[in-house]
This record gives sequence, structure tokens and C-alpha cells, in this order.
Amino acid sequence: MNHNTRGEPMRLLIHSAKQIVQVTSGKEKLLKGTQMKNIKILNAKPGDGLSIVINRSGDIEAVGFDTEISAKFRTNVFERRVDASDQCILPGFVDAHTHPIWAGDRVHEFRMKLAGASYMDIHNAGGGIHYTVEHTKRASEETLFRSLRDRLLRMTRTGTTVAECKSGYGLNVDTELKMLRVLERAKRDLTFVDISITFCGAHAIPKEMTEEAATKAIINDQLPAIARAIRLGEISVDNIDVFCEKGVFELESTKRILEEGKAMGFRANFHADEIYPLGGAEMGASIGAEVMSHLEKISDKAIHEMAKYEGIAVVLPTTAYILKLESPPVRKMIDANVPIALGSDFNPNAFCLAMPMVMHMACILFKMSLEEALVASTINAAASLGMSETHGSIEVGKKGDLVLVDVPTWEHLVYQFGEHDHLIQMVIKDGLVAYDKS
Ligand code: NIG
Ligand code: FE
Repeated sequence: MNHNTRGEPMRLLIHSAKQIVQVTSGKEKLLKGTQMKNIKILNAKPGDGLSIVINRSGDIEAVGFDTEISAKFRTNVFERRVDASDQCILPGFVDAHTHPIWAGDRVHEFRMKLAGASYMDIHNAGGGIHYTVEHTKRASEETLFRSLRDRLLRMTRTGTTVAECKSGYGLNVDTELKMLRVLERAKRDLTFVDISITFCGAHAIPKEMTEEAATKAIINDQLPAIARAIRLGEISVDNIDVFCEKGVFELESTKRILEEGKAMGFRANFHADEIYPLGGAEMGASIGAEVMSHLEKISDKAIHEMAKYEGIAVVLPTTAYILKLESPPVRKMIDANVPIALGSDFNPNAFCLAMPMVMHMACILFKMSLEEALVASTINAAASLGMSETHGSIEVGKKGDLVLVDVPTWEHLVYQFGEHDHLIQMVIKDGLVAYDKS
């Protein structure tokens, strides 16, 4: 605690917890290799529980034993006290990859996939992303905002306090800008989640266009329109994404779009090597892309290159599961020191919002350990969004984003598959109660 905070009113005191999973305690920006196994955990002592204090800026002021904290803060007034007896506290989860803003319903495609259709069969027949684009074009900003808010609220109830959110169901200037305005409104107005906004105009080739025409439309029309809207203060963009895939945006177009986005100050964070081994990750490494997602078909060379410059791999177990894809070589990537993050990839194809389920699936499908899955859903996911100085662990000075869970030890939240609704008691965002089960 800083001395000048003596006597100052504090926003929140959480006390009597039995376990605090800090994840990191030394201001590490990310963890890789064997570091991913060593997370920082505090356990209560007999007769002395654990406390967290959050100040009025929403930042963590102190973490420690109840006796220490009550002595240090005896002159402070707390706006709220939460008794966390019998609870474990984790950092709010960071969902590193989501597509949460869209209209329309694709349950019929789930049925088609069950009957044997592949993701690319449906996409090439004008369904998939194209289907969602048609519906999103017609939806009003208000309708899109309401469904986005509802989805983000549902994420928060499962412990997510930061989400990366992609546009990409517009594919033209007007609808992409509409999506980005709605995302900006959510970023400014929703207090229960922090949002990192990604422009994903290169999500599919519009039906009437060639790859070259679509690439030119993004570079010559969409990005300049976005730059104008940013200058006017209407929107903000943190990352740029491209669906780099055989038959969609291939290597050369992807590179041109990402470089243009990087020149505008966006972080390159794109879909690579998901279905066909196109060499997307090698290309990404050659331009120093900060983040690449999916990577089911990543080459050994790309793994080596990403490790060299600390490019972050966002792996997505829900998609691998739903599309029955071969898993990305996560063990190989961890052994090679590539930092790994996790995302739900929530989208109309992979309808899962819950990071506890994503962690469970990462353990089973990708052979990650419990600790690795948690690191990938907290500090490393925050790092993938350039936010790990402020988010992703329970440390003094970081945002007061916490998940309170009624379990014997934290691992139960991952182990008890699908039970997160029952187990999560409270989610705190910036020291304010974002969700309270009771
Ligand atoms: O990450 N692969 C491209 N984008 C999404 C799917 C989007 C959709 O099908 O609507 C993904 O899986
Ligand atoms: Fe995706």
C-alpha cells in the first residue's frame, strides 16, 4: 500500500478467501515454456484468510492475509465489503478471440455439419460467414448493440472481464463501420467488460468479388474510411485481422492488408493456418505479426520463428472440436517457447462463450495442463491484446478484475465441465460487482 492512501476511502474489500490464484506476482508481461506451469497461488492459513483491497480507481491496492490487511487499512473506509469465506479467487478471464457482433441464426448449419458438410463446403456454397453478412447488413445499430451487450454479459457471467471483439460480418465500408461504431459504443458504455476492438474486414471474399478486388477494396476504401472515422473520434481500432486461408485471403493479400493496418498503428492479430497449411504463420512471422490465431496446421519453421520474436499463438479448442480439426501442436509450441493464449472464438459456427469450458477443452484436446490453460486465459491472453501491464493477474496496481468461485481449489472450475454457472459466485470488474449469483 502507498503511504499516501492512508485513510483514503477504498472501493472494495474482499476478505476471508481460502485461495487467491494471482497467476503472476512479479509484473511479468507473459509466461512461456516451463514458466506456464509455475503460477503464483496464495493459500489461507488456519485462522487467517486472504484479502484483496481495490481502490476507487478500480485498481488493486493490496493482496494479503486478512490480519495484515485489516491492520494496514484500519483507518480506511470501504464502500463495499465482500465475505469470500470458502471461496477461491481468480483473475478475470481474458478471451483473446471472439466474433460477438452479428445477426441471423446458423443452427441449420450445425445440422448440415452433423450430416457431414465441411466448414469450407458451406462457406463456398454461400453460407457460413456470407450468410451472417447478409443478416448483419440488414440489422440496425441498436439491434446489433443489444445482442452484443447480451452476449458480452453472458461472457462476464462465466468469468470473462476482457474480450477481444472482431468486426468482419460487413465486408463493405458501411457495414464494417456500423459494426465498429457498435463495438466502440460497447467499449465506452459497458462497465462489466473491457473490449479490444479488431477490424476484420478481410473475413471473407464478398460473393461478387475476386480476391484481388476484395484486397483493393479493403486497402483503398475500408481502411481509409476507418482512418477518417478514427480521426473524427467515432471509432477506435486496436487490432487488424485477416482470415488467411486457401481460397479466402491467401498469403500475398493477407500480407498487404496486415502491413497497411500496421502502418495505421493496429496490432496484427490474424487467422492463420487453420484448415490448409498455407504458410500463413511463416508469413506472419516475417512481418512480425504480434498475434496469430488457430494454427492447426502451423509449420515447424513458423513455430521456431514465432518463438524468436515472441509472437503470441492464440489457440481455439472450440473450433477444433466443432469442426473436428486436427489439434494445433500446442505441446510443441510450448516446448519451443511460443507464448500461448486461449480464446473462445465465439461466433455463429462455434457457439461457446465460456472460458472455463475453453480451458477444459484445451486440457483435453490440446494436452495443456491446468496451469497452462489458466495462464493462456489470463496473463498471456492479456499480452496478446497488449494489455498485460494492467490486466491478466491479481497484482497490486492492476485492474480489480476478479472471479470468486465456490470450489475446494481453483482447479475445480476447469475440471467440473459445464458447471461454471453453478460454481461462479461473483465477478468483479474494476472493483465493482459485475455479476452476483445471489
Ligand atoms: O475463427 N475462420 C474464420 N472465422 C471464424 C468463423 C466465423 C464464422 O464462421 O462465422 C473462426 O472460426
Ligand atoms: Fe475466429
